[in-house]
Amino acid sequence: MTGQRKWKIGIIGAGGISEAHLEAIRDEPRAEVVAIADVSEETAAMRAARHNIPRVFADYRKMLEETETDAVVICVPNYLHAAAAKAALAAGKHVLCEKPMAMNSQEAEEMIAAAKNAGTILMVGQNNRFRSEARYVKRLLDEGKLGHVYHAKAGWVRRSGIPGWGSWFTRKEMAGGGPLIDIGVHMLDLTLWLVGHPKPVTVLGQTYAQFGPRKRGLSEWGRIDDGGYYDVEDLAVAMITFENGFTLNLDASWASHIEKENVFLHLYGSEGGTSLHLLDERLSLYHEWNGAPATTDIQPKKEKERVLLFRNFIDSIEGTDTPVCTPEQALYINRLIDAIYLSAQTGEAVKL
Ligand SMILES: NC(=O)c1ccc[n+]([C@@H]2O[C@H](COP(=O)([O-])OP(=O)(O)OC[C@H]3O[C@@H](n4cnc5c(N)ncnc54)[C@H](O)[C@@H]3O)[C@@H](O)[C@H]2O)c1
Repeated sequence: MTGQRKWKIGIIGAGGISEAHLEAIRDEPRAEVVAIADVSEETAAMRAARHNIPRVFADYRKMLEETETDAVVICVPNYLHAAAAKAALAAGKHVLCEKPMAMNSQEAEEMIAAAKNAGTILMVGQNNRFRSEARYVKRLLDEGKLGHVYHAKAGWVRRSGIPGWGSWFTRKEMAGGGPLIDIGVHMLDLTLWLVGHPKPVTVLGQTYAQFGPRKRGLSEWGRIDDGGYYDVEDLAVAMITFENGFTLNLDASWASHIEKENVFLHLYGSEGGTSLHLLDERLSLYHEWNGAPATTDIQPKKEKERVLLFRNFIDSIEGTDTPVCTPEQALYINRLIDAIYLSAQTGEAVKL
């Protein structure tokens, strides 16, 4: 801890998710936001007024040059993550980048190289790892309480949840893909963090676009652009096998004819199982008690996940901790996403 120093933070991208970061940063006494940049200066000014941010820029490169920031938080569309991160790292800043780390693994590798050159922190904002229920499960697994964990079913499936139809969200060249890279990335990351990033062997994936092209299944998140287009999937499914015998089934959808949105992770272990439902913050354990099946509902103490995430970022800058989500782990996830899309495109399983 370096005395009472306040780390100066710049925000790149003032859209929806920047609000969540700004609220979390307000709870961190060791940091203050000194500047915000967005190509829409109006959006940046609105966010600045709400959070008392002194300086507003339309160009984040100018912000990097003209303000004394120690670190930046990257909240721009996916296709800009690598460019913004590399520019900030080259300017000697620490970087907290929103998920997905990058559009693909090649960009993620470039970001890692830039961070190595800079010698600063590059962390990816996988906020779900900081949820109370997820941290509880992580402890269970680290302590071997579920025995040998051999399979997981994970998914983020929505009924009508296509974000910003026509905007960057639904254009492959700007988002890198649809729900797989947007929300599937959360569940891939969470599951594989919990089980310790085993080495993947085979990836079989398929994608579908039944709703988006017909402009159905839309949601309130993001702004609709009627002049835009939709060329990504609205459902992706995958089966991944790992060297240690572990297998993962993943579903990610923005729109489907299902009962309701569900964000789930079921882990199968030899001594117990867990079901985690992120939307309603439910966690159940399945085990045996005196020879009979038993179910235990767990209610871990609630803590704000984004406050914990930002605290981890500042602790990493100060050298008292290391990033919970390293760029190498985020690259591993980008590689799996690349493989799922490749498998869907070729119709063949991808060997890694
Ligand atoms: N962790 C989560 O749960 C979560 C949730 C939502 C979004 N996200 C991620 O956050 C990122 C942003 O998503 P969002 O929902 O806030 O999108 P958004 O469209 O609401 O906001 C993006 C902002 O970036 C601005 N922008 C575009 N080009 C820019 C440029 N060159 N320089 C500066 N600003 C530019 C846009 O004007 C817009 O204000 C995405 O990568 C998304 O995947 C993460």
